[in-house]
Amino acid sequence: MSYLRPNIAAMQGYVPGFQPDDVASWIKLNTNENPYPPSPRVREAILAELGSDGASLRTYPSASSQLLREEAGRLYGFDPSWIIMANGSDEVLNNLIRACAGQGQDVGYVHPSYSYYATLAEIQGAAVCTYGLGDDFRIEAFPEYYHGRIFFLTTPNSPLGFAFPLDYIEDLAKNCGGLLVVDEAYADFAECNALELVRKYDNVVVTRTLSKSYALAGMRLGLAIARPEIIAALDKIRDHYNLDRLAQAACIAALKDQEYFRDSCRKIIETREWFTAELLKIGYGVIPSQGNFVFASPADKNGQRLYDGLYARKILVRLLSDPLLAHGVRISIGTRSEMEKTLAAIKEIG
Ligand SMILES: Cc1ncc(COP(=O)(O)O)c(C=O)c1O
Repeated sequence: MSYLRPNIAAMQGYVPGFQPDDVASWIKLNTNENPYPPSPRVREAILAELGSDGASLRTYPSASSQLLREEAGRLYGFDPSWIIMANGSDEVLNNLIRACAGQGQDVGYVHPSYSYYATLAEIQGAAVCTYGLGDDFRIEAFPEYYHGRIFFLTTPNSPLGFAFPLDYIEDLAKNCGGLLVVDEAYADFAECNALELVRKYDNVVVTRTLSKSYALAGMRLGLAIARPEIIAALDKIRDHYNLDRLAQAACIAALKDQEYFRDSCRKIIETREWFTAELLKIGYGVIPSQGNFVFASPADKNGQRLYDGLYARKILVRLLSDPLLAHGVRISIGTRSEMEKTLAAIKEIG
């Protein structure tokens, strides 16, 4: 259609993980959601914000989400001027590209990782350059000095689950002429994170989400931590009321309840370790994971067969369309009981 920009007309669009309507009849392990509910404080805070008649919804929410920036600042040890809140971390990833990369300019990321970066770059008309991984899970052919505008590093990596060591990320930051965006969607399940690099290097940005470790995928909450100059630029281009009132109330309550949060992460990590060990015992290939999921492959390296077998048993996992990943599937970590059922199904499928 001639009304459209040619790149929009030509692009495929991102295909998110399948969300079945009859979700209760599935063991849903395909989009790395948290199997536990969010903190009970979240529900209380949403109901309190709503009040008895919902009248609070008449007026716009705080445009700056300042109280959330302060809460996140306290939690991560940064001044609130280093933090921006987002309607899911996807929003802030989008705005980082819009802020930094123009038509035809380079946006880079590791392949495989989160393919949504490519969609966002395409919308902007930026040029996408991907960098493969070696057998050692290090980036193959990362240039001596990266001259692109922005480079996305997903760590822990999804869908594979490994994490880049901090000294390696630091080397990348030094050799990156553009912004290095460390996408830490899964960092709460990992042993380390790159927050200290934000303080040390002016080109490092860390993004986080409340969708996974805080069990709030349905509320759409994320954030970025970066130098105040970068945060100020992101503030100029975001939707001015990007977080609704209920999301803001939910976010503060979730961040404040650290005891609940830690307990939820601990259970998921324990289940991940148990599930990994069990899969290894039956001869599956499993990459040791630092996220809330594992990438697992059967001996015959037929991810489609495994996916189909699990699907037939009402267990939904993620089969990625990339031929590089056809040998396995990504399985989110559910409750211990869900993973016991999944393991039993995998044993049947073989
Ligand atoms: C690596 C990575 N980054 C970002 C996101 C987006 O998260 P959000 O729900 O905060 O938009 C995801 C979601 O699965 C992800 O896997």
